[in-house]
Amino acid sequence: MGLALAFESSCDETSVALVEDGRRVLCAPVYSQLREHSPYGGIVPEYASRAHLEKFSFLLKEILVQYPLKPGVLDYVAVTTRPGLIGALLVGYHSALACARFFRAPLIGVHHLEAHFAAIRLCGAELPYPALGLLLSGGNSALYLLRGPGEVEVLGDTADDAAGEALDKAAQILGLGYPGGPAIERAAQQYRELRAVAEGAEAELDDENPFPIILRDLPRTEIRFSFSGIKTALLRLAQSQNHSTDFLAFHYQERIVEHAARNLSHALWRHPGLPVIAAGGVLANQRLRRALAKVCQSQGSSLLIPELRFCTDNAAMVAAAAQLYFERSMPSPFTQVSADKSFLPIWQSKV
Ligand code: KG4
Repeated sequence: MGLALAFESSCDETSVALVEDGRRVLCAPVYSQLREHSPYGGIVPEYASRAHLEKFSFLLKEILVQYPLKPGVLDYVAVTTRPGLIGALLVGYHSALACARFFRAPLIGVHHLEAHFAAIRLCGAELPYPALGLLLSGGNSALYLLRGPGEVEVLGDTADDAAGEALDKAAQILGLGYPGGPAIERAAQQYRELRAVAEGAEAELDDENPFPIILRDLPRTEIRFSFSGIKTALLRLAQSQNHSTDFLAFHYQERIVEHAARNLSHALWRHPGLPVIAAGGVLANQRLRRALAKVCQSQGSSLLIPELRFCTDNAAMVAAAAQLYFERSMPSPFTQVSADKSFLPIWQSKV
């Protein structure tokens, strides 16, 4: 057993969750700070910290009204300690620490990226070590070899922007609002419908794609993400005013999906047959999910993706990750808040 209260505040989602065994979610309210950040087309760190500070007590109250917890009943309190916006992390850390003291429970610090992969435990699956972990979110685009809790090898990272960031910036350029991922997906879907392209047949339109293939000559042994070139191409194409917004959104999304799928294919070439866990907010994208499923199917691997509600930042996944340590009676290597660079992966590979 492991009854946990968990806190997430690494970026712009404020969330608290009550989770049993790191698998059964009893209550997991999330406050998305869209209202705070959308006027700026991106996240303003100071506003994020302030919103976390304001909202944590409301979310906690929502849980305590349904589950009036008494000191001594929790097995642990879990909290994201890295990577993230430092002010935002500190608000979450100190809220969690206060609860740990009040409920007389130990505090388990969690790595946000590990939590994204652990989210599949909330969907009835287990973390199948060793596995490949593909993370595509607002702050990260990377592929990892997951060997065990806290034992992670970085196979490839982003040279510049993250996938979600590239989508958010594109939506800003195209005037589609924030967050950009869902807006680009909607515009791309409209273009697909306009051209009456059947589900899964996007490649039919590739001849007209005005965007360069990202890292066209990336050798099969290499895994590397890069989105800044395509973003600049979008800016130029949008300024030329020769194409509709939906056309640009469709082809831009196609290139990003193709790039992610190719990197995953390279990782599977290096580690054939390993199961793949794909996580992070960008995995809400249906086109991306189809493309990754195709890669895994053709290379004989299974693909696990958390449910949509657990793909974006939430506290339930933080409990799912903390439980990995709790059930092994292992100390978490992420107990303290880290002020290291915002979203760069800083796991210490043990290999
Ligand atoms: O993992 P996440 O919730 O947190 C951060 O890393 O901040 O990911 C947020 C990212 C944003 O960039 C957002 O635009 C993107 O996920 N996203 C999507 C979709 N829904 C959210 N990207 C593509 N398609 C979507 N449907």
